[in-house]
Amino acid sequence: TERTYIMIKPDGVQRGLVGKIIQRFEERGFKLIALKLVQSTEEHLEKHYADLKGKPFFPGLIKYMASGPVVAMVWQGLDAVKTGRVMLGATNPLASPIGSIRGDYALAVGRNIIHGSDSVESAEKEIALWFPEGTVQYASALESWIFE
Ligand code: GTP
Ligand code: MG
Repeated sequence: TERTYIMIKPDGVQRGLVGKIIQRFEERGFKLIALKLVQSTEEHLEKHYADLKGKPFFPGLIKYMASGPVVAMVWQGLDAVKTGRVMLGATNPLASPIGSIRGDYALAVGRNIIHGSDSVESAEKEIALWFPEGTVQYASALESWIFE
């Protein structure tokens, strides 16, 4: 099965949404295979968002992401990358449906509380960048009840 990199941004941590967000991924049936609270650096975040270098909002994005700790996670399961993006909603919270994380908890594109990988390739790159130590493998007792 597939893995995706999900990160609760500094505003999500400050607003006390860590538990609620983790709960959504657990309840959907995804398996948590890496988790840490990190105060990132601008240098590291510039690597994470390298594709956006040159955008007018890039300096503000890096400052926002370095403004406090983030929760870095890897979730594994069926179609984890695409499903993760659906659970997040659109980049702009105002365009995100109610029921999505951004649609339920955010209003501004520059404070959209959560990141999710946009493709399997970027997921693997992001997992390597944030978890050079690797992820954890374990058997989940629920697996046979979540997958046929
Ligand atoms: P991530 O999951 O964070 O990567 O968001 P995304 O994939 O939905 O959007 P994208 O990768 O294009 O942009 C990364 C982040 O930059 C967004 O989540 C926003 O926080 C921020 N961002 C994108 N576009 C804008 C914009 O027009 N203005 C501002 N202020 N921030 C933006
Ligand atoms: Mg993105």
